[in-house]
Amino acid sequence: MESINIGLAGLGTVAQGFIEIFGQKKQALSDKLGMELKIVKVASRSQKVDLEGLGAVFSTDLSSLVEDSAIDVIIELIGGEQDALELISAALKQNKHVVTANKEVIAKHGNSFKGEIDSGQLRFEAAVAGAIPILQGIGVGMVANDFGSITGIVNGTSNYILSNMSREGASFEESLKQAQELGFAEADPGFDIDGIDAAHKLTIMMALAYGQPFSFDKVITEGISHITSSDIQYASEMGFAIKPLAVVRRSGDEIAAMVYPALVEFDRILSQVNGVMNAIEVESDYAGRLFFSGPGAGSLATASAVVSDLGLIARNQGSAYPRLMGMEKLRITYPDQSTSSCYLRFDVVDEKGIFARITSALSESGISIDEVFQKNLDGGRASIVMITHPASDKDIDNCLSNVGELSEILKPIQRIRVLS
Ligand code: HSE
Repeated sequence: MESINIGLAGLGTVAQGFIEIFGQKKQALSDKLGMELKIVKVASRSQKVDLEGLGAVFSTDLSSLVEDSAIDVIIELIGGEQDALELISAALKQNKHVVTANKEVIAKHGNSFKGEIDSGQLRFEAAVAGAIPILQGIGVGMVANDFGSITGIVNGTSNYILSNMSREGASFEESLKQAQELGFAEADPGFDIDGIDAAHKLTIMMALAYGQPFSFDKVITEGISHITSSDIQYASEMGFAIKPLAVVRRSGDEIAAMVYPALVEFDRILSQVNGVMNAIEVESDYAGRLFFSGPGAGSLATASAVVSDLGLIARNQGSAYPRLMGMEKLRITYPDQSTSSCYLRFDVVDEKGIFARITSALSESGISIDEVFQKNLDGGRASIVMITHPASDKDIDNCLSNVGELSEILKPIQRIRVLS
């Protein structure tokens, strides 16, 4: 049997999952793939796990993987941007295959690796939505299709936080701490809660689905840290969950991409995707609407996707993605003219007439209200909560800036989109 010699870079959460899978299934995998898989070297800044029994040499020098002519495939699991980028570039120059879970490097630098992505020398299934084979789904399984929209929950940490705040009534901070302890969160959790990680993943899906350059800078990104437990409760009373979404939509020859928290009606499956689970709903011309769901982060789940890329290399499968070269037919725009229903919460001094002043300001701006209620709070305060009918961003912006001037308004007005 021929063999593939693997150099593993990193010993973090996903790398440990990879080693665990390897320990349990090395022989079975080799049998399935018709190719003996060997981890010959592991490089990491420090040796945090016991490598006894793996039969691999350990090094603290990442470049020793690139220099080792016996290594066929480098699995980059060190994370971060710069060191990983250098390692990937150097490995590709040495004609090694590279498998990475690094969404940041692919989203920001994928355009300089178009040739290697097209040839299948560089693969990154684990970079998007953990265990879910969404890139192969889009790239191979749905290759016949044009995509109308992709709507996903692709950051497990944000979903875990919002689900926990909803189900357990836990605070934002407690929930984030738990996600960190469980190994889901990024080294810098700002990447999770500010929507950057989801924007990296959306950039990758958008490039593959629409054959576009990787355009991370064109994704509008809004985080979840302004969502309060009260918003989650009020939304629920009106029949919605609040979910951290990543959405790309095509309209004619234009596509627009945005990461934002949104109210999702309870009768949509996306609203029921909780905890660290990810889900992606894909609308296409022939296959219709497909729904992919599964664990989006975590050691073994993400490592499962790394092994899937390794499997494609072992079977000499070529690229799992559509060709990126020369397919720039669509224009990526900013979704600045979008129209959606909005959830609005006005925290006010509960004085006579304030409810009417707010609703008439909305009406004067041409914004109609679908549902509205008032919650009385202590200290003579109240929250006026509503969902509007679809309105343009511009009309809502103008109206809220006028209403925000009212002396009874106590805090910045909360505004969350509703997924249409
Ligand atoms: N921090 C990421 C998440 C890890 O929470 O989804 C998986 O990419």
